[in-house]
Amino acid sequence: MKVLNKILSRYSGKKSDLVPLLQEIQSEYGYLSEELMKEVSHFTNVPESEIYGVATFYTQFRFIPKGKKHISVCTGTACHVTGAQQIIEGMERHLNIKEGETTPDEEYSLESVGCLGCCALAPAAMVNDEIKSKLSLRNIKKLFKGYKP
Ligand code: FES
Repeated sequence: MKVLNKILSRYSGKKSDLVPLLQEIQSEYGYLSEELMKEVSHFTNVPESEIYGVATFYTQFRFIPKGKKHISVCTGTACHVTGAQQIIEGMERHLNIKEGETTPDEEYSLESVGCLGCCALAPAAMVNDEIKSKLSLRNIKKLFKGYKP
């Protein structure tokens, strides 16, 4: 927990620091594990349940690790009207997980996000940092070729 201690050393432990503190921890670790939440609770003297309450209020926080390939499916207006929900459902079937989850082998994680800023390419998603455009139930098969959940 050397990295965590370094992060904590930059904060006073005040409750008002919770959100930036959690953001920084998530940025470093990729998600907020139970162990990390316990440490934050100890550091701030805020009960874990309250910290979970704060963290779950913001959609930016994750409580499970991202997969090696993290898929963010856009559900903004242009993508919504061109079938984003069907794309998400198709991916859920391919990966045997639900949106917001990570495959047990941590190969893939799936989430929905707001507009990715490439509406002309709707429906769109990002796989890590790469945009995937004009998605369809047919072409998403290629994304998971050879993958057995
Ligand atoms: Fe999907 Fe803008 S609405 S990229």
